[in-house]
Amino acid sequence: MSPRTLEVGLGERSYPIHIGGGLLARADLFRPHFASGRAAVVTNDVVAPLYAEALERTLSACGVRHFRIVIPDGEAAKRWETLDAVFGELLRRGADRKTVLVALGGGVVGDLAGFAAATYQRGVPFVQVPTTLLAQVDSSVGGKTAVNHALGKNMIGAFHQPLAVIADTGTLATLPDRELAAGLAEVIKYGAIRDLAFLGWLEANIDALRARDDAALAYAIGRSCELKAEIVALDEREAGPRALLNLGHTFGHAIETLEGYGTWLHGEAVAAGMVMAARFSARLGRLPGADADRLQRLLERAGLPVRPPALAVEAWLEAMGRDKKNESGRITLILLDGLGRGAIEKGAPLAALESFLAS
Ligand code: NAD
Ligand code: GLY
Repeated sequence: MSPRTLEVGLGERSYPIHIGGGLLARADLFRPHFASGRAAVVTNDVVAPLYAEALERTLSACGVRHFRIVIPDGEAAKRWETLDAVFGELLRRGADRKTVLVALGGGVVGDLAGFAAATYQRGVPFVQVPTTLLAQVDSSVGGKTAVNHALGKNMIGAFHQPLAVIADTGTLATLPDRELAAGLAEVIKYGAIRDLAFLGWLEANIDALRARDDAALAYAIGRSCELKAEIVALDEREAGPRALLNLGHTFGHAIETLEGYGTWLHGEAVAAGMVMAARFSARLGRLPGADADRLQRLLERAGLPVRPPALAVEAWLEAMGRDKKNESGRITLILLDGLGRGAIEKGAPLAALESFLAS
């Protein structure tokens, strides 16, 4: 079957997102992005044995000279020290400004390799080859790259758009169920903030998605990428509507940071965070309680946690106080004015938030 191709429309930095089975072998999709004939494949020690050879065979078929950099698996590796090790390897292997970095893996590899590409020798090109559902529907698209800091998620990073996103849906066959569910959290997010009809489709197809039905997955990935590409094209650097993509993330990032990176998967923290955002919206009278229940039910059916860990109110506020969306010390939250209608609330009412967190 031929791949589906979408475009992220960013003028001269526009790029394609190719989605389909067997794309790792498609030299025709890779070749246009490797004119320099040099590449470094950045991957991790779980993904490398599964997919690195297939990708490297294709690069060789395109006449591209390449070497591989393998980082440790997991969210805890998305840190400065790992990035520094990647820079060391790029320098030792003689990577220059035309060497294309290829991020082969989930969001951790994509974010870290993307940030390496944004900063190595003041910026080199890179291609995203996402292999988790979360990365195929979200993190590989849009050019946000980062590493974590002990004090906050994704605190050190840059905007740097890839040359292309090549999402081989066949790689999802080896993804553990828990990781698949984590990806579904971000898929559900798109419905919640922007597309009620898609949310309804997800309710009707959630069992098929969990059973990895090919057609259902292809539709969900395609629709998610369409929605993300639309928002990124409107607001590349998050001056406005792009912040909607952070529904659940202010609470979720606090969970990830406070519980220790990797204890909760990113998608799991976002799921619990979206329920918190929906419940807080209901408490403020902006969302009917029944709609918060409806969102929670869908997340539960996706196999996701919907309750946050027990944390002190002060700890929540401190972590949320460091969120990148905040301005002048006031917490910005993404709320829901209805299902399918996300809203950016700059300066969330603090007293109401404290009493909500305490409850
Ligand atoms: P991940 O990268 O840790 O991957 C999840 C796990 O699956 C890892 O153990 C990985 O090694 C393994 N894996 C990857 N592909 C596999 C495959 N095909 N088969 C078997 N195992 C496979 O996690 P993730 O959920 O992909 O990404 C989460 C990260 O993405 C977080 O750091 C989050 O902050 C970031 N993120 C970034 C953006 C963005 O816009 N840049 C958006 C959302 C999330
Ligand atoms: N995942 C949030 C964004 O890309 O803006």
